[in-house]
Amino acid sequence: MRGSIAVVVALLGASSVLHAAGAAPASQSEGKPLYRVEGNKVDPDTLAGWKTWRALACDRCHGARQEGLVGPSLIESLKVMTKEQFKETLLHGRPERGMPGFANSQMVTNNLDNLYAYLKGRSDGKIPPGRLEELK
Ligand code: HEC
Repeated sequence: MRGSIAVVVALLGASSVLHAAGAAPASQSEGKPLYRVEGNKVDPDTLAGWKTWRALACDRCHGARQEGLVGPSLIESLKVMTKEQFKETLLHGRPERGMPGFANSQMVTNNLDNLYAYLKGRSDGKIPPGRLEELK
């Protein structure tokens, strides 16, 4: 019994360390722009964000152009949400209000910064809706 309590404490400790490590977004260090876009071409990280959006079918609830359906317009949400709030919402969801959590999706957890970059570009009106290609 005592042993299992110790294990739980150790796991909680490990997850908060991981969380803290994830808090410093590497992609925004050294003045690197959040995204680069030319027409329908975007940098590889932002393209990975778009692919994540497609693979997880966020459009089922937020609309193909992020304009909102059963879920809110992310064009509007990204104008007011901080990046930290965005990540929290993606990881934990708001299950009681119809937003699933995606902590179990490795594609999402690996691409939180990229998803944010893609949706921020959409919200800024800089990235066009629909299919994107890689900007070399
Ligand atoms: C099953 C439907 C559904 C799916 C799939 C879904 N969402 Fe949501 N989402 C919602 C709903 C409903 C809300 C509003 C929750 C609330 O009222 O607080 C929401 C809220 C959000 C918010 C917070 C918006 C705000 O203004 O507070 C973000 C960001 C978001 N979703 C992003 C995503 C992304 C990215 C994906 C794909 C990985 C996704 N959602 C998939 C239904 C969905």
